[in-house]
Amino acid sequence: MAQVLGGITTSHIPAIGMAMDRHEEDTPYWKPFFDGYPPVRAWLEAQQPDIAVVFYNDHGLEFFLDKKPTFAIGTAPQYHNADEGWGIKPIPPVTGETELSWHLVNQLIDDEFDMTVCQELRVDHGLTVPLSLMWPGNRYQHIKVIPVCINCERHPMPSPKRCYKLGQSIGRGIRSFAGDQKVVVFGTGGLSHQLDGERAGFINKAFDQYCMDTLVGHPEELTRLTNDDLVEKAGAQGVELNMWLAMRGVLSEHVTELHRHYHIPVSNTAAGVLVLENED
Ligand code: DHB
Ligand code: FE
Repeated sequence: MAQVLGGITTSHIPAIGMAMDRHEEDTPYWKPFFDGYPPVRAWLEAQQPDIAVVFYNDHGLEFFLDKKPTFAIGTAPQYHNADEGWGIKPIPPVTGETELSWHLVNQLIDDEFDMTVCQELRVDHGLTVPLSLMWPGNRYQHIKVIPVCINCERHPMPSPKRCYKLGQSIGRGIRSFAGDQKVVVFGTGGLSHQLDGERAGFINKAFDQYCMDTLVGHPEELTRLTNDDLVEKAGAQGVELNMWLAMRGVLSEHVTELHRHYHIPVSNTAAGVLVLENED
């Protein structure tokens, strides 16, 4: 039986990748942000996961407004990034995973999630920046990645409740997989942010802290929110909280919070970090 070790949440903004390329981690602007990561890296180093299931959103590299799956999953042996126009330098390809991913596809479709199954997929900053953050120097190729992409760009979007259930289905899939792999789950993006329009730069610290507190012990409470609630309380891109909820859905009912960090702002975004250890 494959084992879920725990879950990690992290921002994924392109500026993080650029700051790492320029070795700006210790500058006054970036240090308070990067200070959140050594405990996460230490936990990964101690746990040595084999596989990472990464919930992310594609901001327009592979899926643009013309073709937008609600939920997509990758089953490819390798994934490449491409120029997104943000100035992120080329990075090594991400290693894929082809066995558990197909098992998850079967589990999800049995559970009535009509996934878009991608045997080829370019992955954007939503997936690559978290990997670069966890394994500095882009040393992430040892870990096999299963990308799970959630529409957070074009309305209508899947609800917080549906995303949590997506995570629960993936959790059942991992636990029923005949293997001894150790799996870590990432919820990327968030927390409050709005990139454009009248409220560009909008941050809601009180709501972010409520989300972090509630996600740990009472995630079902967050599933009562609608995407309209998220836009109102957390900004237009605050719907990226849905990736955090999907991650939490994979984990056991009770989890241990090993680490938490919150810093505002980086670029236009509130950056929240959690490491939650599974109790199963
Ligand atoms: C920013 C935040 C995002 O979530 C993203 O996908 C791109 C940019 C930002 O705050 O700069
Ligand atoms: Fe984003």
